[in-house]
Amino acid sequence: MQKSLAMIFGFALLFGAVFFDQANAQNMMNKQKMAEDFHSYANPQDVMVKHVDLDWTVSFEEKTIRGTATLDIVRTNKNAPLMLDTRELKIEKAETSADGKTFKATTFEIGAADKFLGSAMTVQLPPDASKVKITYASSPNASGLQWLSPAQTAGKKEPFMFSQAQAIHARSFIPLQDSPQVRVTYSARVRTPKNLLAVMSAGGNSQTSARNGDYRFSMTKAIPPYLIAIAVGDLKFKSLGKRTGVYTEPSMLEKSAFELADTEKMVIATEKIYGQYEWGRYDLLVLPPSFPFGGMENPMLTFATPTIIAGDKSLVALVAHELAHSWSGNLVTNATWRDFWLNEGTTTYIEYRIIEAIYGKPRREMESYLGKRSLLDELAQFEDKDEILHIDLKGRDPDDGMTDVAYEKGALFFRHLEETYGRERFDNFMRTYFKDHAFQSITTETFVEYLMKNLIDKKYPTTYASSIYPTPSRETINEWIYKPGLPKSAPEPKSDAFNQVAMQAKEYLNGTKTLSSIQTKAWTTQEWLHFLQTMPDGFGTEKMAELDKAFNLTKAGNSEIEFQWLLMSIRENYTAADARLEAFLIEIGRRKFVRPLFVELAKTPEGMKRACEIYAKSRPGYHPITQSSVDAIVKCN
Ligand code: BES
Ligand code: ZN
Repeated sequence: MQKSLAMIFGFALLFGAVFFDQANAQNMMNKQKMAEDFHSYANPQDVMVKHVDLDWTVSFEEKTIRGTATLDIVRTNKNAPLMLDTRELKIEKAETSADGKTFKATTFEIGAADKFLGSAMTVQLPPDASKVKITYASSPNASGLQWLSPAQTAGKKEPFMFSQAQAIHARSFIPLQDSPQVRVTYSARVRTPKNLLAVMSAGGNSQTSARNGDYRFSMTKAIPPYLIAIAVGDLKFKSLGKRTGVYTEPSMLEKSAFELADTEKMVIATEKIYGQYEWGRYDLLVLPPSFPFGGMENPMLTFATPTIIAGDKSLVALVAHELAHSWSGNLVTNATWRDFWLNEGTTTYIEYRIIEAIYGKPRREMESYLGKRSLLDELAQFEDKDEILHIDLKGRDPDDGMTDVAYEKGALFFRHLEETYGRERFDNFMRTYFKDHAFQSITTETFVEYLMKNLIDKKYPTTYASSIYPTPSRETINEWIYKPGLPKSAPEPKSDAFNQVAMQAKEYLNGTKTLSSIQTKAWTTQEWLHFLQTMPDGFGTEKMAELDKAFNLTKAGNSEIEFQWLLMSIRENYTAADARLEAFLIEIGRRKFVRPLFVELAKTPEGMKRACEIYAKSRPGYHPITQSSVDAIVKCN
């Protein structure tokens, strides 16, 4: 019996069938590991892209990135074609290679376009193909790129271009498997106009001002495709510390370096809690004001809105947040967009921890309080299905998941675990969790299993155990992750400073205190925000005018305070802020500010009329992401 087995084995070996078996075993392993991603056409279970080599020419005249993407593939099903994600790409040709040197044309097909997903690209593979080279150009309307005229920059002289790939926009400038569970390394050669500098989310960014229009980059750690990023413009660098620095337009450089001075300290503080920073450098790129987000955690090079440059470092929680993604998100990544809360909830929790480490506990409590308040406002309006951490996004735009539920409910869940198990034990758990899943993309289910095994099922004594804080069990975990609303065990951030602010606001509102007697001298931005948020809806234009006279709020200069004030101005019909509102909406394209202001305007017919007038002027300057968000709100005829 044994003899014949050995003979069969030998026979099989002779004919190379062992290869087949290995491939099959690999195939099964991959199949098990792959999650169902509703937002990608890719077939990584059969053919998986491992490396992307880009050779690009960036043309500001054409508003295109033109060139080639050469993909290294691993094939577990030799009969399967390669399935890629694309959106509005102009594909010139596809070639394959077995040796990586000689390429031969192959056939491909572009499927019908879905409004969220774009088009599948099917590339036929000869039996021995291990590389696929695609020659293509992006569309001038690529959803993941914004092309800025000189007028839209700080310097007003040179054009600017930047990418924003999360969630599913990488496919609008690279044909690839645009699923966060398909991790790739990448290299790039980028040609630009000679006087401009290109930077990427990779190694190779230049710290000198030397420019020749030909730049090379390399990301040697496997990352999800949504972290591939590029910007081209009149950029300069300033060092902030040993591993940290900032890129921005020359006229923004000093201000930015001042604002971001605590960055190196933040890296050190985060490493202390969560383990080594794995990416080498941590630089920031401060973009022109049309950047649609606050920040984007592109590895080695966080992209940030200039609206955090307040002059007093009061808005740098954003840096803490994007830096935290170096662990939660970039090192351990959501496998699909329904697991987005794993990226953002963990990150928001860590953001608050970094704030505490650098600026103290009172500041952490203020920021957490504002976060929870914003969540509660949202929950009051949401349908149940959108209040679930493990949100079902099938058939929807994955960006719909970018709500306070993922961020703040997620953060409260982690804070609940911290409060329950004590900081030391919980920090140990998180550190080990990052280590055990480094450079992996995982689902909510994988996380829950790990949490049960390494924390909950250990039956550690908890610091709290009562009817409000029951010892966590699978039921409590399920309630947090799979049920709508906020569990009873949700933590309550508490701020003495905020209590003081609220008390004084109340006394002002009931007439027992004048504005001039309120002690605002030492207020932080967070206290100002709390003060303004304490003012009840419909409290009137008279009071608005009083506040403005006392505190000059229409000219606040701090983007968060100004946003809050403008929102109230619309609500209270305070017309003295009209001109400022228009200027703000034309200057700034950050969706978090722009969208709520238009929503507020759109609530009345007169407001909608104003919204239309303003939007006609502001829309051309907005990023495609902000445009499509506002298009859904502002209806003009
Ligand atoms: N990764 C997100 C930005 C994002 C999420 C872009 C989903 C596209 C789709 C980033 O880390 C983020 O959360 N940014 C926040 C700032 C933060 C301080 C809450 C933002 O842009 O508002
Ligand atoms: Zn984030």
